[in-house]
Amino acid sequence: MKKSVPLSLVRRAPPHLRQELECVLISRTQLHRRVRELAQQIERDFAGRDLVVVSLLSGTIMFIADLLRSLNLPLRLDFIGVSSYGGGTVSRELTFTKELRLDVRDRDVLLVDDILDTGKTLTAVIARIQKLRPRQIKTCVLLDKRARRVANVQADYAGFDIPDLFVVGYGLDYAERYRNLPFVGVLRPEMYGK
Ligand code: XMP
Repeated sequence: MKKSVPLSLVRRAPPHLRQELECVLISRTQLHRRVRELAQQIERDFAGRDLVVVSLLSGTIMFIADLLRSLNLPLRLDFIGVSSYGGGTVSRELTFTKELRLDVRDRDVLLVDDILDTGKTLTAVIARIQKLRPRQIKTCVLLDKRARRVANVQADYAGFDIPDLFVVGYGLDYAERYRNLPFVGVLRPEMYGK
């Protein structure tokens, strides 16, 4: 299984965003191509299963919408709300803002997040779901920032390995902004006063 794809070409941000973004790290085309590949892997691995997809709010909005459109499997969808960044780029204490509604006992759970960074979020959410006694939990993240990992966790499906840069767009935010960008871009450090 291809774990993630290398990022070789970075492009300039659109002119109206150049003061805020350093570059486009992953284009709309690259995203769509890779999300379809992930969906194909997931389809193969979960064929014939009673799948519950659990998506973490809010950074997954675009990723989950595209992934689900490409997933040709019977499934149910639920969301878990977790808040860790509280408006900045520095991770803070984790709080759950929305619990699961579906019963996942004895089900196969695919937990979807936007980015795996230190790994604290995914670790906490896995522990939370594990208490509900699912048959298994597999994890799928769009972006993997391995350099910053502190928790012992890795994703079963990962879209792209990215360097230690703060990225926004395609659902990812800085202070709730930039989620609507159709690409993943690198936020200029001066935007968050590094
Ligand atoms: P941890 O460190 O717990 O972080 O693995 C996971 C959550 O942190 C957020 N995060 C980011 N959000 N750009 C963002 O917009 C980033 O570069 C970034 N790094 C981490 C994200 O919400 C993720 O679910």
